[in-house]
Amino acid sequence: MSAVAQPPEGREIYERNCAICHGAAGKPDPSNPLFQGFERLPADLSDPLFSSREPTRDWLIVATHGGPSLGFSDKMPAFKQALTPAEVTAVIAYAKSLAGADDYPPGDLNFFLPLRTKKAFPEDEVVWKLRQTTRDSTDVLQNRLEIERRLGKRWQVSAELVHEFEGHHGQLVEVEPGVKYVAYFDRARKLIASAGFTASVPLNQAGAPWAAVPYLALGKGFGEQFTLQASARASLPAEDMERDGEAEIAAVVHYAGASARPRGIFPGLEAMATIPFERRGRDAVQFALAPQVRVGLSKRGHVAMNLGVQVPLNERDAYDFRAYAYLIWDFADGMIYEGW
Ligand code: HEC
Repeated sequence: MSAVAQPPEGREIYERNCAICHGAAGKPDPSNPLFQGFERLPADLSDPLFSSREPTRDWLIVATHGGPSLGFSDKMPAFKQALTPAEVTAVIAYAKSLAGADDYPPGDLNFFLPLRTKKAFPEDEVVWKLRQTTRDSTDVLQNRLEIERRLGKRWQVSAELVHEFEGHHGQLVEVEPGVKYVAYFDRARKLIASAGFTASVPLNQAGAPWAAVPYLALGKGFGEQFTLQASARASLPAEDMERDGEAEIAAVVHYAGASARPRGIFPGLEAMATIPFERRGRDAVQFALAPQVRVGLSKRGHVAMNLGVQVPLNERDAYDFRAYAYLIWDFADGMIYEGW
């Protein structure tokens, strides 16, 4: 049927080595007596949402080095003795084809979460973001808790809760509901583009207007080593838009490592340009740079940190610098305590 799309030997290798546990069509049979003593069933490779969002690289690692290499069950064997690297690549390509998930954005396009640039890939994720802004003598510590949830093939809904400490005074300052839609992706070109919208609703700030924040986000892989993400967004307050509105363009390049495990350190460099609608004596465009690192903590990288600093390049009296620390938990890939 799809003999052209798959290397012919992928199917054979699968049927000889994998089907006994994962099932000929990718769906394990729960009544298989082999599974007695298994703490969990083999993964259902025919599930399109699961299959599509798993990066191919992770499946290559698991099939080569076994389940424990990414914190999964040791019942998932290592095939590095039995199969050549080319055979593992072929069998994973076949395993990936079992779900028929061509119209789901693939996990290979799920690039690292940047500090400012909006991400294009839809996630099931919880992110706790800490930001310390240092300006003159007052420091502001901001805490954001963001929950993102996949809906269907291409949608994501999210909610963000923002809390700020200024001096000793702390309070909730904002809630931000949002939605995102993957408008375009291309596996071969490693390209993904999304459109999103968040509403920024002030809390405990008398008279402050809510703001609409529409954005476009783009992701592009370059070989196995580098990724580029870029986004453009506008902040449009419901009142005094000409005075308080602004646009921001941001882009980040990450080094993703050629065949690296998800637990590792991956540097990135981000640049931002903010354009206030009304200049009010400021520069027309404010530039900032944010060197950062992604630190994969769990073996499968579903618990990770992002650390960085943002330094203004002009208009330096707005703030001296901002320090960021994000804690990321991708809950589709396991509980926070699993996979270490
Ligand atoms: C002896 C049974 C067994 C065989 C044979 C087997 N697997 Fe698995 N596999 C498992 C189990 C059990 C898991 C679930 C591990 C977990 O979730 O902790 C799993 C998980 C996986 C996963 C999912 C990892 C993830 O990200 O969740 C992939 C991919 C996979 N196997 C591919 C293969 C391929 C390809 C083959 C053949 C080359 C194969 N398996 C052979 C038992 C097996």
